[in-house]
Amino acid sequence: DFMSEIMGLSVLEKQIKDKLQISNVIIVPGNSDKHEWVKQELGKACVGYLKQIVKSEITIAVTGGTTMAAVADVMTPLEKDSNYLFVPARGGIGEKVENQANTIVSEMARKTNGEYRLLYVPDPLSESTYQTIINEPSVNETLQQIKSADVVMHGIGDAIKMAERRKTSESLLQELKEKNAVSEAFGYYFNEYGSVVHKVRTVGIHLEDLVNINHVITIAGGTSKGQAIASYFKQGKTDVLITDEAAAKQLLRET
Ligand code: F6P
Repeated sequence: DFMSEIMGLSVLEKQIKDKLQISNVIIVPGNSDKHEWVKQELGKACVGYLKQIVKSEITIAVTGGTTMAAVADVMTPLEKDSNYLFVPARGGIGEKVENQANTIVSEMARKTNGEYRLLYVPDPLSESTYQTIINEPSVNETLQQIKSADVVMHGIGDAIKMAERRKTSESLLQELKEKNAVSEAFGYYFNEYGSVVHKVRTVGIHLEDLVNINHVITIAGGTSKGQAIASYFKQGKTDVLITDEAAAKQLLRET
C-alpha cells in the first residue's frame, strides 16, 4: 500500500546515501526505462527541491537530454518577484533540438518568467577553434555566467548509448569500448572507477568547476542507468541525487 511504499523508499534513500556518501537522495517510484511518466516524476521532485533552495537572484545551468527535457515539461514558477537566469551548462553535445540544453533553458525560463542565454557552439571543437570561440566577447560573457552559476542541474547517461546517440565516430566508439567507458555527464566519459577516459571539447562547465557551485543536482533514473550512476559518483561532486526506484535498486547491486 501507499504507506509501505513510502517507507520502502525512505529505507532505499538511506541505503543510497550510505553507498554514495552523499547527504541528499530523493527517490521516486517506478522505472524511467519503462514509463515516460517516471521522468516527469523525477522532474517534479527536482522542481520541488529547487523551490526549497532558490533565492531570488540566481543563475541555473542545465544540461541536455530527455530527463532534463522532462524537468522543463513540469517546471512551474519558483518564487514570486524573483529573477532567474537559465543557461546551458555546455554547448551542443550532439543532441536533437528538443533535447538540447539551449531548448531546455528557454522552456524553463518561459515557465518561470525568467531569462535565458544561449550558447551556439558546435562540438566537438578543435583546440584552436576552442581557444578562439571562448575569447569571443558574446560567448565569453555567457561562459562567465555559466561558470558562476549557483545551481547546476544535470543528467547522467550510459557511455556507449550516449556516444551512439551523438553519432560519435566509429574510431572513438571503439576507443570508448576499449577503455571500458560506462557513464557520461557534461561531455565527459568515465570508466567504472570514475576515471575520465574521454572528454568532448566544448564550451561550458568543466568537472573542476563543480566544486565552486553551491547546488549540484544530479537527475537520472531507470535500471539501465544503475551502473552509470555508480560510476559517475566515484568522482562526482553532487549535492543531491534525484533518481527512481529501479535505478536505486540496480545501484545497490553495483560495486
Ligand atoms: O547530452 C546531455 C546529457 O545530459 C548527457 O550528459 C547525459 O549523459 C544525457 O544527456 C542524459 O540523457 P537522458 O536524460 O536522455 O538519458
